[in-house]
Amino acid sequence: MNQSLSAIVQQLMASPKGLLAADESTKSCCKRFDTLKIACTDESRLQWRQLLCMSPNIELYISGVILYDETIRQQTDSGLTFAEALTKNGIIPGIKVDKGLVEMANFAPQTITEGLDGLAERLTEYYAMGARFTKWRSAFTIGVDLPSPAVVRANMAVMARYAAIVQAAGMVPIVEPEVIYDGDHSLAESGRATELVIKVLFEELAAMKVDLTGLILKTSMVLAGKDAADVSSPQQVADATLKVLNAAVPREVGGIVFLSGGQSPDQASNNLNAIGAIGTQPWPITYSYSRAVQEPALKIWHGNQNNIKKAQLKFAQLLARNSAARNGECA
Ligand code: G3H
Repeated sequence: MNQSLSAIVQQLMASPKGLLAADESTKSCCKRFDTLKIACTDESRLQWRQLLCMSPNIELYISGVILYDETIRQQTDSGLTFAEALTKNGIIPGIKVDKGLVEMANFAPQTITEGLDGLAERLTEYYAMGARFTKWRSAFTIGVDLPSPAVVRANMAVMARYAAIVQAAGMVPIVEPEVIYDGDHSLAESGRATELVIKVLFEELAAMKVDLTGLILKTSMVLAGKDAADVSSPQQVADATLKVLNAAVPREVGGIVFLSGGQSPDQASNNLNAIGAIGTQPWPITYSYSRAVQEPALKIWHGNQNNIKKAQLKFAQLLARNSAARNGECA
């Protein structure tokens, strides 16, 4: 066990906090800005990320922030970089290091995640900038005979290689095999796909000798697809999710965090609350949301400086709610 990696994991997983995912690529960030007709420029992205990361009291709820390459290089109004300002506030800066999804040859439209080339060099730079953890995401759509076993295996092999390289650089890897919520699949189909993907991931991590105590799994919840006839209730989501996690995740894993994946803010916190209410699990569990904590605040901000305080208030309320939810204490 690497003591310094597990110390970072423990700090990131400390109750009642969660992680903020603010690592949207420029393309994804612009897509969200466009729907609200907010101009998408270096400066507007900087202002938005600053609004989030410098929100008053954020340190009560957030232990770490996953940044994007553009943001970690930007300076806040305080004259400090984002990584410096977060660290000063007791929040650990992290960085998304994958280079996104491309169609996998012979399996399109299924995808594989790129970004291993030059990773060790990029990590040295990010470490010097203050980042102490990283994130890598793969995505799997559920469908007839999907995801293909070969696509799952190839993605998880690359993800395990990423995790080994990150630990060698003295940083904690977050591994994020996302099972996509879009579609009309059932709760049971979501459970099967999620369990398969996570089991293969841990086989590949073992093969790469990754220290599981110095690693965080970021996963989707198990729930029926967005377009399914039946909406999964929070109790169904909690039971199905914990069943899969207990079947597929080794007990030594340092922590588990959830992505929100397109669930509404209420859904994401109600489902997390039902999971938290079931009680202690072999690993600490919390949230690492982007859309479910950002979107209501983004709508209020709307690119207008006069709305910053109101947007920050909404953002802090959402964080407080999810921090309570991780312990099953949502009102
Ligand atoms: O990669 C996805 C983010 O880390 C989580 O985003 O909460 O909007 O799914 P989300």
